[in-house]
Amino acid sequence: LNNGLAQAPPMGWNSWNFFACDINETVIKETGTFHFDLLAIKYRLSWHCSEFHGLKFRDSGTFESLVSSNADDCWSTLRRDSKGQLVPDPETFPSGIRALADYVHGKGLKLGIYSDAGAFTCQVRPGSLFHENDDAEIFASWEVDYLKYDNCFNLGIDPKKRYPPMRDALNVTGRTIFYSLCDWGVDDPALWAGKVGNSWRTTDDINDTWARSALHVLNYFNPVHTALVLSESPHAKTPCMYQNSLSPPPKCLLLLPSPFHFSSMTTIADLNNKWAAYAGPGGWNDPDMLEVGNGGMTYPEYRAHFSIWALMKAPLLIGCDVRNMTAETYNILTNEEVIGVNQDKLGVQGRKVHVAEDGCSEERSNDLTTWFVGLDFLQVWAGPLSGNRLAVALWNRCSKAKTIKAAWDALGLESSTSVSVRDLWKHQDVLRDAVASFSAQVDAHGCEMYIFTPQSVSRSDI
Ligand code: DGJ
Repeated sequence: LNNGLAQAPPMGWNSWNFFACDINETVIKETGTFHFDLLAIKYRLSWHCSEFHGLKFRDSGTFESLVSSNADDCWSTLRRDSKGQLVPDPETFPSGIRALADYVHGKGLKLGIYSDAGAFTCQVRPGSLFHENDDAEIFASWEVDYLKYDNCFNLGIDPKKRYPPMRDALNVTGRTIFYSLCDWGVDDPALWAGKVGNSWRTTDDINDTWARSALHVLNYFNPVHTALVLSESPHAKTPCMYQNSLSPPPKCLLLLPSPFHFSSMTTIADLNNKWAAYAGPGGWNDPDMLEVGNGGMTYPEYRAHFSIWALMKAPLLIGCDVRNMTAETYNILTNEEVIGVNQDKLGVQGRKVHVAEDGCSEERSNDLTTWFVGLDFLQVWAGPLSGNRLAVALWNRCSKAKTIKAAWDALGLESSTSVSVRDLWKHQDVLRDAVASFSAQVDAHGCEMYIFTPQSVSRSDI
């Protein structure tokens, strides 16, 4: 969306993945404080340096404007007030949203809020469908900087009709507000949302797991979810009502297992990969928020999650309780070199460029978890960076440590090109003149990430 924002993917924190509905202004404020002290300052310092570890960073200031603290669903009361306005829950947000915005702005951060392009939010708070102008106006009057706009209770109306009115309403307010479409990838938003929003969800909800488990599959046959499919519109690819919804469905048509629940981190990465060509400055594919630090995955798995999200130019929205982060979580979330890949000014989404099995195929039959997903075990992901550099990730989806090879042809390099390699997790230059391929040992479920700088050979050198 051409509103001047999102020149690089947004970065920040969102309440949903850890707190779900259990939010209040204290959590957002405390997170804002911690976020600022522990994360944003560190991020901003790296941003203010024009050179950092030999990498060129964007001019100072841009990064600052992207760091936000976002309240998700459940900030409002169950009903609008007598004037039809949205009202912050007086028990959990007694000071109101404007006061919260003032506090968060005082920390040098931006404030994000949430609503829904439907009759209700997923947790059955009032939605903004047909109230776009009033709601945009009130968000602007509260000095909100970012709106996440969900897809529940959408009455079966085409998302291409429901999302643009809020863009237009936000535009009319005169306040520049980041517009994040959360339509769960329904109707392939990458194909149409570039003119509507600054980011668009390409997938269903992320789950804090490595791979699809028996639990995910059982969920297909969970009676609660099956009942929800009663609400599925014939036109919608996903149910027009969402899990936990309480109201009667607007349409009762089909009784089938619902296709929409949640997906593991690896599945989400693969789904988002498909849309790489559509991301760029102004509008980004959104494979959902980070689960790093929420406890469902191991350290190598979270490192892979962060590396691949960075390489895919995904929004880096922290989803854990930053007030109680472990040192490991902190190290992952504050790796400036990996963040530098995400925020690189070229703004091209990296993608999966090579897969191999290499002796891991027995897992398909031995391990139910991987069998359900059909993982390609050894993967190379890569994408171009400014300055003729490449970001390269070697991702091991096998349950044993493996050597993974990135061959120059998979990366689009001439095999004679000499490349210097910097390891973004070790923070070291590891090779000066790699030629034809580069290999490294990668932990089970781990990911190593590099910047490759081809040595340019000028004609006079030959
Ligand atoms: C569905 C979205 O995909 C989630 O990210 C979250 O916003 C919930 N709705 C809130 O109810």
